[in-house]
Amino acid sequence: MILPVTGCQRKGNENYVPGSLAQNEETSAADVTKETTTEKPTRPPIDPSDKLIALTFDDGPYSPTTNKILDTLEKYNVPATFFVVGNRVSTYSDSVKRAHNMGCEFGSHTYSHKVLTKISSDEISRELNDSSEAIRKITGEDIKIMRPPEGAVNDSVRENVPYPLIMWSVDSKDWVHKKDSDKSYHEVYDYVFDGAIVLMHDIQPGTPDAVSRLIPDLQAQGYRFVTVSELMDARGIQMENGESYGSARPPVEEEETESSEESVGTEEVLTSDSISD
Ligand code: NI
Repeated sequence: MILPVTGCQRKGNENYVPGSLAQNEETSAADVTKETTTEKPTRPPIDPSDKLIALTFDDGPYSPTTNKILDTLEKYNVPATFFVVGNRVSTYSDSVKRAHNMGCEFGSHTYSHKVLTKISSDEISRELNDSSEAIRKITGEDIKIMRPPEGAVNDSVRENVPYPLIMWSVDSKDWVHKKDSDKSYHEVYDYVFDGAIVLMHDIQPGTPDAVSRLIPDLQAQGYRFVTVSELMDARGIQMENGESYGSARPPVEEEETESSEESVGTEEVLTSDSISD
């Protein structure tokens, strides 16, 4: 069964009690150990013609909020992608294990949330190696993708990061709206499109409630939720190390004016990630 947290399970939030997220933090963190799923859920094969969305969560893990998001993902049997900060992974390893067992994808958000354009190539390597190792210790698998803190990328980052750089095309701005989940909900619901990569943060207090509404409401619009790698695979995009990817729209006529996948929805949002840690 899922956690005895009421606010995040409900579609809509009219009965939501402000502050209940914080009040339930201890319960959620403690309960996850015995609630951890042991078998990966099965899902139908992804059809490339499906309307696809990849929800992504940065800056965690932080079990009090991460677990509430996982409750919703579990309820609807959908995956997401977590770009975790490596130095938080061992502290909240239960959430990492649980998400991994649910078929979620993990990527690096560096080891200590360093802005990679401001550090040396040696430091870039250390930030990525340390975070990859921290994740592998818990999941047993190597990561394949990363998201640079603040979306900051320059030539040094492109040359020294041994992973594809995953940006985003829809920003929930949950790091601005914080507890105001309705605003974060609309930042996504009103702007999402087939192939979007959505930026959220699983350390923000309003994010679990926004997610608990977004998933059923967007499913009702015909969308299917996938991980970043699943999205790229479904659209036939072979990601390359050091290259940026912010979306994976379906191949339609009007997209032919775009010169490459890099031009889709990345540059205009490069500086809007939070520096929450
Ligand atoms: Ni971040």
